[in-house]
Amino acid sequence: MRNVLEVNNETCIGCGECAQDCPYGLILMQNDRPAMDMERVEMCLECHHCLAVCPTGALCIHGCNPDDSQALPGNSPSAEQLSLLIKGRRTTRRYRKEPVSREEIDFLLEAVAYAPTAVNNRQVLFTIIEDPQVMDNFRKATYAMLQEKIMNGGLPAGMEYLQEAVVKSRDSGQDIIFRGAPHFIIASAPKTGSSPEADCHIALSYFELMAASMGLGTVWSGLAKRSLAMLTPESLYKLGIPESHTIGYMMAFGRPAVIYHRTVQRENCHINRVLNVA
Ligand SMILES: Cc1cc2nc3c(=O)[nH]c(=O)nc-3n(C[C@H](O)[C@H](O)[C@H](O)COP(=O)(O)O)c2cc1C
Repeated sequence: MRNVLEVNNETCIGCGECAQDCPYGLILMQNDRPAMDMERVEMCLECHHCLAVCPTGALCIHGCNPDDSQALPGNSPSAEQLSLLIKGRRTTRRYRKEPVSREEIDFLLEAVAYAPTAVNNRQVLFTIIEDPQVMDNFRKATYAMLQEKIMNGGLPAGMEYLQEAVVKSRDSGQDIIFRGAPHFIIASAPKTGSSPEADCHIALSYFELMAASMGLGTVWSGLAKRSLAMLTPESLYKLGIPESHTIGYMMAFGRPAVIYHRTVQRENCHINRVLNVA
């Protein structure tokens, strides 16, 4: 098997950082030079920690060259900037009609690909409705499906609250499921993964923050998830989501038709500080 770890002997300083940072200890130091333990190479998560931690950029892993990575020290947003982004992000429930461009969506998702996944599984599938016209058709089909359920014996116990969404849509054109957003994203992942739901939730959380940084609005769509994943999963398979996937969560997004001029005010997190262990 090809050695997946290529070391530039001229720039490697033999510091051993790559070996120390490998989650499974797959890199062995031999004569002050790192080498992949080829007997256990199958365990490699392809996390690229070795490439990222090397102070001199001396390691290529799985054909990835450190020169193609972005330099870090001094380039990250400050804690204050990130804190303001987190505090200033709001659930958006009013949207403008102008769509978000493919370029913006791709830029956003390019960063989301860096969200952590259990055992670096990276199997989250993002099913996206980009075309607002397709979104409108999807919106109509969802309300029609709920209406049909109501007519044919009613909604399952515990889901009666969805009736209000149908009535509001029918009587006043209000869309409380998708909040009138022009786009929709569904994160799903193979059921066989070690934690598909967590992977999807984390990915959408990153999506939401990236969107906020770009002036875009998002709304986690619990109503849509319950309507679609629980009542008509087949409608999701029709969108191309494999039946072998867990539906993680769904989010509507677009350009906000609302401006928030300040942060909200939240109490501190609930904290349980462990001071001693008996
Ligand atoms: C898992 C989840 C599901 C949600 N579902 C909905 C929803 O169906 N409709 C909606 O308008 N907001 C929904 N929200 C948004 C919350 O209501 C919102 O985050 C909360 O009120 C706080 O407002 P903020 O996000 O602006 O801070 C959901 C949020 C989460 C995290």
